[in-house]
Amino acid sequence: MHHFTFRDGELYAEDVSVKAIAQAVGTPFYLYSASTLQRHIRVFDQSFSGLDHLVCYSVKANSNLAVLRLLAQEGAGADIVSGGELFRALKVGIPPQKIVFSGVGKTREEIARALKAGILMFNVESLGELRVIAEEARQQGQKAPIAIRVNPDVDPQTHPYISTGLKKNKFGLSVEKAYEAYLQARQDPYLEIVGIDCHIGSQLTQVEPFVEALQRIKLFLQRLEQAEIKVRYLDLGGGLGIVYGQEDPPPPKEYAEALKRTLEDFTGTLILEPGRVIVGNAGILVTKVLYVKEGAEKRFVIVDAGMNDLIRPALYGAYHEIVPVRSTTDQTEVVDVVGPICETGDFLARDRELPKVNPGDLLAVMSAGAYGFVMSSNYNSRLRVPEVLVYKNKFYVVRQRERLEDLVAGEEIPDFLR
Ligand code: LLP
Repeated sequence: MHHFTFRDGELYAEDVSVKAIAQAVGTPFYLYSASTLQRHIRVFDQSFSGLDHLVCYSVKANSNLAVLRLLAQEGAGADIVSGGELFRALKVGIPPQKIVFSGVGKTREEIARALKAGILMFNVESLGELRVIAEEARQQGQKAPIAIRVNPDVDPQTHPYISTGLKKNKFGLSVEKAYEAYLQARQDPYLEIVGIDCHIGSQLTQVEPFVEALQRIKLFLQRLEQAEIKVRYLDLGGGLGIVYGQEDPPPPKEYAEALKRTLEDFTGTLILEPGRVIVGNAGILVTKVLYVKEGAEKRFVIVDAGMNDLIRPALYGAYHEIVPVRSTTDQTEVVDVVGPICETGDFLARDRELPKVNPGDLLAVMSAGAYGFVMSSNYNSRLRVPEVLVYKNKFYVVRQRERLEDLVAGEEIPDFLR
């Protein structure tokens, strides 16, 4: 459920006309709906009611400060993967006791800063990292709270680039290595074992892989218990999928019920790290048609947003629904919607049946709130686009369009070239 709807043939975000925003800020731009974000975080959180749990929103999915602030106000914690995300989370007032730090390549500096901040726990992904965390904790004269990320070897049945819980993936530690890590951590006076962690992938459209992963984690917990190692937090990561086109993912309630059933007698706190399911359908990318071109074999709709703005179609062959902001005709045609970038992979849709469009028309690329702006770049020296947040009948520019000066900020021509 989201708040992007048609009124008299024209697309609205909550109570604001998308066209009016385009006129005010220009195109392309990302547009988020605050009411949708609120709804999503509440529905997700309430699905787990009755269970001791903490929702740590996965900042990587959309890290705009306004989005984070809204989620913080709703009581969400944060799942971070870098010092940059720590900075953002703290800046919007997310309490450090609600922040978990994931990621395979945490640097010593990032670890030190997170320790100083007093985060809830480090989700540790290697024995080497465990050592560095212990060293930094020792330097700071405190204990570092840790969980080991276990790779349960479960197939999430999603795109290979976003599968993370298979043996061949770089994430986490195998059950054997994880056990070793716990034994090592127990010996270390500067480490405090507080949790166990696992994340098997993203855009999962079935509950079974989650349940299977959780069952394996539970078995592993029994083994830890035999070694008298107890954990308080069980972090099951994120990964719940959303509808882009024809998918039929379980609603949060069904996902939560399945997990509750599987958890049975677990008495600690369940941590969840949802990203996409909170922000994905709360955002769109608005772009303008520049040209319509008849190729030898195909018809191209050339728009002003490119793969640098939304890379998902190019990178994963991802499907995003595209709709005209104002529908003017019933006539449709099959087109490729492409951007201005000098790459054949620069497309937003291929062989897509769309209502006939003309230069100047606005198109909305739907379900673009997650892994949209955050994955954008300046490739082809394109300015990164603004982000706009709508709430009820008002809109707010929550990130300005970049200016040409921003493009070259930090660059310098050395003396010998002057
Ligand atoms: N926790 C961890 C440790 C993760 O690695 C991720 C996502 C999440 C939570 C959040 O997963 P979500 O609930 O959003 O599925 N760029 C790709 C998705 C990459 C996901 C990376 N990890 C895409 O555009 O589909």
